[in-house]
Order: sequence, then structure tokens, then C-alpha cells
Amino acid sequence: MIVVVGSINIDLLMQVKRFPEPGETVLTPAYEWMPGGKGMNQAIAAARAGVKVAMIGCIGDDGFGTRAQNTMRREGVLTSGVVQSDDLPTGCAMIMVDESGENQVVMSQGANAQVSSEQLPDEILTPANVMLLQMELEPEVNWLVLKRASERGMRTILNLAPAAELPREALEYLDYLIVNRIEAEQIATKLGLSIETDALKLAHALSKSCGLTCIITLSGRGSVAVEGDLGWIVPALRVEPVVDTTGSGDTFCGVFAACIHNRMALPEALRRASVAGSMSVRGKGAQTAMPYIDDINATLPQLPEADHVQLK
Ligand code: RIB
Repeated sequence: MIVVVGSINIDLLMQVKRFPEPGETVLTPAYEWMPGGKGMNQAIAAARAGVKVAMIGCIGDDGFGTRAQNTMRREGVLTSGVVQSDDLPTGCAMIMVDESGENQVVMSQGANAQVSSEQLPDEILTPANVMLLQMELEPEVNWLVLKRASERGMRTILNLAPAAELPREALEYLDYLIVNRIEAEQIATKLGLSIETDALKLAHALSKSCGLTCIITLSGRGSVAVEGDLGWIVPALRVEPVVDTTGSGDTFCGVFAACIHNRMALPEALRRASVAGSMSVRGKGAQTAMPYIDDINATLPQLPEADHVQLK
């Protein structure tokens, strides 16, 4: 089973011709509200990839919370670890998507701020299970959960998004770090590493310094990963048209976690995650176009094999 300790949001989605300048208002005819949050998105991506998933989170006592809870149940995600806040509303993200599919997001944590490590029973922290975390909860909760999970032999994956500080002590509990290029550079700076212009070298530096497998996602250009001194370059699928990139990184992470759970080799896990992330930009919102396992299997042959590089 994959255990996702993470955010549950409702996304307010507005499509705009172009993003407003500071102080400017742009008009758009309609908006939609859709389930989102990096935690719930990744849980659903993993569940659609065919793995049992348990969500640990917190919603408000409101219609947003009910919709989020119903969505997870419909997708087969276990929600007994989702609690309701007495005083805070369900987390909410305002998302603008422009004509090229690019987005701008403001997220308000709401009830996500009340998720606690105590919601996690020890019984599910086992070596057979995988822990998947993002950075939309209080960071201290993540570090505590990571420690508990790792001490019980669970494999741990952290998607450090949105970008945040990664304390040295947390690193020893982490097996896989997934970041985008900007997040990777920020961590390297904090750790006092030189900023490599080559993404593979940057992943290598982070992997070595942190003692973990480092994966850097590069949007439409795919991803790179380094485990020890072995690097992988993984392409992305060319997708036309790009409708909405929201949740593409979450799809990558959820599917990657599902593959790691199934003990797939790293390059194969990365290829599947890459295909799924690419496919997810074909629909509006974070979850609409997330593929199911059959779609991933059917599309996988279109993606060239990952290239491997010996780094030392
Ligand atoms: O990664 C996309 C997600 O980030 C959105 O669903 C939104 O809720 C924000 O948390």
C-alpha cells in the first residue's frame, strides 16, 4: 500500500487569455471548482496506476471537504485517515491557466495545517508500504512522519513541492527526492553545493550529498535521475495541444510511487511516470486527464527507452 500524508484542496480554476499584470484585472467568462491538492492528486494518480492507497489528511466541515472526500472514495482511495477540522475550511487553490496551458497558483492551506503525525497508526508503517509526501502541510509534520516511516523500514518518497527548506536531519530518512529544476537549485544552494548548469550533474551532486536517489523533473523535456553514480535521462511524450499542466508533476510522483511500490527498476518506473505525467496535460484541472494503468501500458511503447550515463 502507498500511504500519502498530504494536502486535500479544492481548486478554483479560471482560464485566461493571459495572466494579469500586478494591479490589472482580466475578465474570463466562467470558472470551475475541482478536486486538487498535491496530496490528493498524487494519491489518485497512484490509485489509477493500480496500487492500494491510503490518504492521511484534514478537510473542513464544508462542501469543498465533502466533494474532496467523495472524489477520493470514488477513486478507491482509503479515507479513514482523513479527519475534519472544527474551525478551518478545506484547503483551496486559485489557479489561472493561460492559452498555452501554463498556470499560476496561489494555495491557501486551510485545514491542511492541522494534519498531525498522530493520524498515522504504526500498523501501516511497514517495509511493504511506501510513504509519499509533498510540501503543502506543516513541514515539521513531514519530518516527523519521515522519521517514523523510515525507522520502521518503509520506503520514503518526498516531492519537495512547493519549494521549501529541506533540513539535513530529514535527509537520512529519505530514499527518493523528486524536485523540479528550480527546487533542485534552491536545495543545492542551501546545502552549499555548486549550482551545476547540467541537470544530470545537479542531480548527481544532490544524490551524493544527501545519500538518496534524486529525480529532477524538466516539464516537457522529461526528467533525469541519479542513483549512486548511475544517471538516467528520461524523455517525455510530445503532447499537442497542451490544455493544462496543473497536476502533471503530481501524476509523475503518484505513478512513480506506484512503480516503486511494485519494486520496478528505476528506469522503468521513471518511464511510466514520465508517460503518465505527459498524458495528464491533455485535460483541464489536475485530475481530469490523469491516466489509468491500461492507458499507461498502451502508451508506454511510444516513449523511447531511458538513456543511462555512468557518472564517475
Ligand atoms: O500540483 C497542483 C496542485 O497544487 C493543485 O491541485 C493545487 O491544489 C495546488 O496544491
